Amino acid sequence: MSTSITVDGVSRVFSGRNGDVVALQGATFDVKAGEFVALVGPSGCGKSTVLRCIAGLDTDYTGEVHVGERRVSAPSTEAGMVFQEHRLLPWLTVRQNILFGFVGTAAQQRERADELLTLMHLEAFAGAHPHELSGGMAQRAAIARALAPRPDVLLLDEPFGALDAFTRIEMQDALREVWRQHNTTALLVTHDIEEAVVLADRVVVMAARPGRVRHVEDIALPFPRNRASDEFAHVRASLLAQFSLVH
Ligand SMILES: Nc1ncnc2c1ncn2[C@@H]1O[C@H](COP(=O)(O)OP(=O)(O)OP(=O)(O)O)[C@@H](O)[C@H]1O
Ligand SMILES: [Mg+2]
Repeated sequence: MSTSITVDGVSRVFSGRNGDVVALQGATFDVKAGEFVALVGPSGCGKSTVLRCIAGLDTDYTGEVHVGERRVSAPSTEAGMVFQEHRLLPWLTVRQNILFGFVGTAAQQRERADELLTLMHLEAFAGAHPHELSGGMAQRAAIARALAPRPDVLLLDEPFGALDAFTRIEMQDALREVWRQHNTTALLVTHDIEEAVVLADRVVVMAARPGRVRHVEDIALPFPRNRASDEFAHVRASLLAQFSLVH
């Protein structure tokens, strides 16, 4: 089962010493049940803010956010969130971190952890602590932790931002596979347009000052996507043109 996300006319203003910052102004887009959508845009355009609103971590906005039928007004286990930094708890092992938000009997816990450790190729590191992991492994553990309670929607905020190019490509392929196997709805924030084109069924392009949705593009390329193809280059260029980065 998977669930849609709708963001309808969402505005969020932060008041500071230097006046108000309009982080979001009337942001409107949706993610259909089971769809994989990427959200791209320049730094400060409100990507993290809108993700926090969807996760129920920020409720101080106007407009409406729905996850399925439910209007979001508080954090919920329906949404699994992955952050730019892994945010694993350093005193827990990988297995314990993965099970952090999972409720079940000892047998269910063991089964779920084993399943996710296998899926994310972390079997050999089940008993390791976060400081013993590479950046890619730590992010895989963070994704496993977000998936453990079987969330209806997976929200990812630049999860691969800190990784090297090789690990990043590996993780992108792994993420699409995990999304497919879990039959979940995914919304991925990224500043990497190539990453958006590799992974997403649709890309939502945002603009800054004020943060708003500027364009939505369907990516019709078949999977798995070939980064080296002419079609890929064409889609990538048309998205870059949205930022006036190519002419
Ligand atoms: N807690 C806060 N207090 C004050 N201003 C904030 C707060 N959170 C975000 N902002 C402001 O809102 C705007 C949008 O921030 P947000 O973090 O959503 O951007 P972003 O698109 O995620 O950027 P980045 O790509 O750099 O992560 C920025 O101008 C930021 O300074
Ligand atoms: Mg951000």
